[in-house]
Amino acid sequence: MPTTTIDDLILNNGVTLPPIGLGVFQSPPAETSAAVATALELGYRHVDTAAAYANEREVGEGIRASGVARDDIIIETKVWPSDYGRDETRHAFDKAAAKLGVDRIDVLILHQPAPAGFDRTVAAYLVLQQLLADGAVRAIGVSNFMPQHLDRLLAEVDVVPQLNQVELHPYFAQPEVQAADARHGILTQAWSPIGGITFYPGPWGDDRRSVLADPTIAEIAAAHGKSPAQVMLRWGMQQGRSVIPKSTNPARIAENLAVFDFALSADELATIDALDTGRRSGPDPDSARTDLFDRVIPEA
Ligand code: A2P
Repeated sequence: MPTTTIDDLILNNGVTLPPIGLGVFQSPPAETSAAVATALELGYRHVDTAAAYANEREVGEGIRASGVARDDIIIETKVWPSDYGRDETRHAFDKAAAKLGVDRIDVLILHQPAPAGFDRTVAAYLVLQQLLADGAVRAIGVSNFMPQHLDRLLAEVDVVPQLNQVELHPYFAQPEVQAADARHGILTQAWSPIGGITFYPGPWGDDRRSVLADPTIAEIAAAHGKSPAQVMLRWGMQQGRSVIPKSTNPARIAENLAVFDFALSADELATIDALDTGRRSGPDPDSARTDLFDRVIPEA
């Protein structure tokens, strides 16, 4: 029988990260603080937000309302491309820290490569490096970086990112990104680990299939007396990824943490691997979305 134990993840600079955290992408600000407090009370110790989610302030409120000691919690947030640049990214840290109500941000990452302005992406990363050296952040990284973006970045910086957060669920597992991350010693962190992006309404197209309704995953879930979401989270964690499912629903926040009492077999993991369609549901990191990237992140 495979073990049910999943150890904490250890980043390439020695910082530890729980294998599962709470995501708050698309969590309405009014619901975010309660979701964060509920999650922390249930035992989550990692929350992933972003300047662009417009709910950092409510994440901070939820953390304070939970009563859990600040030092026991990993707070992760992301700098939006409109704040890339030497002075801009330094100011982005100040804005995020003030909204969150903290002095130190545990994990600070770049939200996207800015393909049309990679020099600004590099400049932003150099600020993250400095913040890391100063102890203002404990780990740094990137998001939505494809192998070619990693190669370009690594040619110009000193610190290998601690993690790379990318779209990753059974319908889009990005094996080549995972391999590139592993080659460089970068942790792969899965956004939309239960495939919310495969069914969210929005600008992502309507020819998507919800991975939550996948019959193969349903069959594996039934065999374990677990839910499809729990199976997908286990698949991610057993393969060594950080997973950050989003929910604002207390029962589902609890359900997503109840994943330490069963284990998928190697065959089941391979069966889920085989569901990969190679087609992303979210935005392509190589398309220069200046309309979005120019969006101004408000002051604290
Ligand atoms: P809700 O917030 O109402 O629970 P992802 O993080 O993979 O993008 O998935 C997030 C989406 O999945 C949200 O729509 C969320 O809605 C929903 N969700 C979260 N947990 C579960 C669960 N255990 N079962 C079904 N849907 C879930």
